[in-house]
Amino acid sequence: MGGSPTRIRTKGCTSVDKQTTFDFVVAANRLPVDAVEREDGEVEWRRSPGGLVTAMDSVMRGRDGAWVGWAGTPGEAPAPFESEGMWLHPVPVSAEEIEHYYEGFSNDTLWPIYHDVIVPARFRRTWWHAYRRVNERFAEAVCEVAAKGATVWVHDYQLQLVPELVRERRPDVRIGWFNHIPFPPVELFAQLPWRAPLLRGLLGADYLGFQRTADAQNFVRACRSYLGATTKGDRVTLPAEDGQPTRTVRASAVPISIDVASLTELARSESVQQRAQEIRASLGDPKTLLLGVDRLDYTKGIRHRLKAYEELFEDGALSCPDVTLVQVATPSRERVDAYKRLRTQIETTVGRINGTYSTVGATAVHYLHQSYDRAEMAALYLAADVMLVTPLRDGMNLVAKEYVACRHDLGGALVLSEFTGAYHELSQAFICNPHDIEGLKQTIMRAITGDERTKRRMMSALRKRVTHNDVTRWANHFLANLEASPEKPA
Ligand code: ADP
Ligand code: G6P
Repeated sequence: MGGSPTRIRTKGCTSVDKQTTFDFVVAANRLPVDAVEREDGEVEWRRSPGGLVTAMDSVMRGRDGAWVGWAGTPGEAPAPFESEGMWLHPVPVSAEEIEHYYEGFSNDTLWPIYHDVIVPARFRRTWWHAYRRVNERFAEAVCEVAAKGATVWVHDYQLQLVPELVRERRPDVRIGWFNHIPFPPVELFAQLPWRAPLLRGLLGADYLGFQRTADAQNFVRACRSYLGATTKGDRVTLPAEDGQPTRTVRASAVPISIDVASLTELARSESVQQRAQEIRASLGDPKTLLLGVDRLDYTKGIRHRLKAYEELFEDGALSCPDVTLVQVATPSRERVDAYKRLRTQIETTVGRINGTYSTVGATAVHYLHQSYDRAEMAALYLAADVMLVTPLRDGMNLVAKEYVACRHDLGGALVLSEFTGAYHELSQAFICNPHDIEGLKQTIMRAITGDERTKRRMMSALRKRVTHNDVTRWANHFLANLEASPEKPA
C-alpha cells in the first residue's frame, strides 16, 4: 500500500538564537513532530502519533504561538526552532526519565487508571519522582517562553502538575488545561497514592476542560473527596491556605474535534478518490471492505473486534473473497509490557484468522503496523464500506470523526463503541458494546447488509454533527471559557 509518513527535514526549520516570548503557549508531552536520527546522521522530523497532535496542529496553524514539548528522543533537546509558523521549544527528557516518567508513571500508572483499569496499573515511587521532576522542567520551559500576561494551554495526563508549577512561578499568566483522555470515577482514582498532589497540580489552572460532562464531574467529586474542596455544579473552591486567598476553578466539558473542512476537501480531491479506487482494486475488489485504524493500544478493543470478525467467518456469515478487513495498527509505546503483550496477541490472532479463512489471492485480514500520511488515511476512509471503532474506553476517538468527515459521498457505515467520547455526539452510528461479542457481530452484520438508503441517511446525520463542532469551534470554546476565568468572587 502506498503513502509515507510526513517528514520534515531540519533544513526546513529555522533555529533562532535570541530568546523569544509568546502571548500564546501550548505545552504537551510531545511536540507535533518527533526527531528521528537517520542512518546518515541527519535529523529528520516526523509527525508525532495520536489525536492530541492531530487536533492541536490545526489549532496552532495561523497563530503566532509556541509549543513546548518533548522531541521524542532521549537526552539533550534540539535547539528551539520555527516550523510552519509555530515556535517549537523542545524539553529534554533523559533515557531514565523516558522509562520512569513517560513509559512508567504516564503510561503504566495513569493511563490504565484513567481507562477503567483494562490492564492493571503499576505504582512505583521512583516513577512518581521522575514525573514530578519532568513536570517541573516543562513548567520552567513554559515560563521561559511565555510573555507577560500570556495564555498558557497545558494538555493531557502527562502534565497534570504543570498548572500549579507555572502558577507558583508566574502568577501573571492565565492557565488552562485540557484532558484528552477520560477522567476516572472516584473509585478508580482513589487507588493512586498521589491523588491529592495530582488534584492540587490541576487546580493551579484557571480553567479545566474535559471530553465529557461525566469526566468533569468525576474530577469535581475527586476534589471534594480528597482535598476537602467545596464544590457547586462545575465549580471547585479550595480552602484558603498559607495566607493565599480562596480560588474557584471551573471544570466543564468541551469535546474535541478535527479540522473537518480541510479533511473533507482532501477527500474530495481527484488524487484521493483515485487512490481509494486503487486500494479497493489492490485488495481484489471485495464486495465489502471493513477498516480499523488505531494506535496499537489495549483501550481500542482491537482484540474484541477480531474475535467478532473471526466468529463471523466461523459461522459462515462472512467469507473470502467477498469480505476483507484492513487493520491499521500504529506502533505505540512499544517498550511497555502491556503493549508488547497486546502486539503478540493481535499478531497471533491475525495469523490464525488468515491461516484458516484466507484463500489463494484473497486475504481475510490485512494487518498494517505502519504510519501513513493524511492523504493515504483519507483514501482508506473513502475506500471502506464499514469503519470499525470499538474501544473499551476512549476519551474521544478522532478516527470516527475523520471517517465521517471523509464520506462526502454519504457512503460507508460507522460501527461505534458506546465507550468512546465520540458516541455522545455520533449516536446515530451503528452503536455497539464491544464486550458483548454476540451483539458486536450482529451490529457489524447490520452495518454490512443494511439498506443503502437508511445508511445514507445515517451518514448524513453524522456529517451534520461532525461539521457543526469542528476543531476551531472546540478551541474557541475552550479559550472563551478560559478567558472568562477566574471568576470574580460574588
Ligand atoms: P489516539 O489519540 O488515542 O491515538 P484518536 O482516534 O483520537 O486516538 O486519534 C488518532 C489520530 O492518529 C487520528 O488523527 C488518526 O488519523 C491518526 N492515525 C492513527 N493511525 C495512524 C496511522 N497508522 N498513520 C497515520 N495516522 C494515524
Ligand atoms: C493519546 C494521548 C496523547 C498521546 C497520544 C500518542 O492521544 O491523549 O497525549 O500523545 O495518545 O501517545 P504517545 O504515548 O505516543 O505520545
